[in-house]
Amino acid sequence: MSQMSRGEIRHRIAELGEWFQNLDLDGVPTAPNHFLGDYPSFKWQSFAHAIPDDITGKSVLDIGCNAGFYSLEMKRRGAARVVGIDSDPSYLAQARFAAEVRGAEIEFRQLDVYDVAQLGERFDVVLFLGVLYHLRHPLLALDLLYEHVVDETLVFQSLMRGSKAVARPDSDYPFEERAVFEREGYPVMYFVEKCYSHDPTNWWIPNRACVEAMLRSAGFEIVDHPEEEVYVCRRRARG
Ligand SMILES: C[S@@+](CC[C@H](N)C(=O)[O-])C[C@H]1O[C@@H](n2cnc3c(N)ncnc32)[C@H](O)[C@@H]1O
Repeated sequence: MSQMSRGEIRHRIAELGEWFQNLDLDGVPTAPNHFLGDYPSFKWQSFAHAIPDDITGKSVLDIGCNAGFYSLEMKRRGAARVVGIDSDPSYLAQARFAAEVRGAEIEFRQLDVYDVAQLGERFDVVLFLGVLYHLRHPLLALDLLYEHVVDETLVFQSLMRGSKAVARPDSDYPFEERAVFEREGYPVMYFVEKCYSHDPTNWWIPNRACVEAMLRSAGFEIVDHPEEEVYVCRRRARG
């Protein structure tokens, strides 16, 4: 824990701009008025049980780490090495400050998910939470995670809209087949040309069947689905 007074912490939090994640920094909240409530703490509570309590010795990569909430949780569970990456330097500044207050040793780097190959290493656990729908090329990102950074486990979360049904389409259809695309549970991803939820970085919002199909297609086996939007996956060996 740092030697900073509550007043200093409050001052630095304000200096670091608008916070998306609400962290408790020595009793001082960073985003107490988040539109989703105590976020992402309440989200984490809904799937924390799906990740081992003790990950001593494991390496973790937190992609789109924002202010470091999940990186800090992984460190708390004993991870030997935690790397957080984000494309936005202002969030990384928040993350570095949060880790300083908590006395946690975490490496934060400004890096785009499309550039993960630059890390040059694989991680036992990769967190990819709340990022997919912010990407213009979501399937490319999943392919890159498979190709370059996931060694064992991928923990995935996405905003989803549309049907919650999951139909497993046949492996092929004749050209004349059209009805299958209208069927409940067919994988669909909605393209947002302008804005959704006042956020112009929301580009693609998949339905549940689409999330599951994309994860499989990129090479991940879904081993747990602890919460509506969250999947725990294992990297499959590609045939
Ligand atoms: C909705 S927030 C999710 C933050 C955190 N993972 C969570 O679940 O609370 C999305 C984060 O992804 C980051 N991000 C968006 N596009 C990215 C990209 N192409 N590469 C890396 N990070 C990205 C944003 O800067 C932001 O911090």
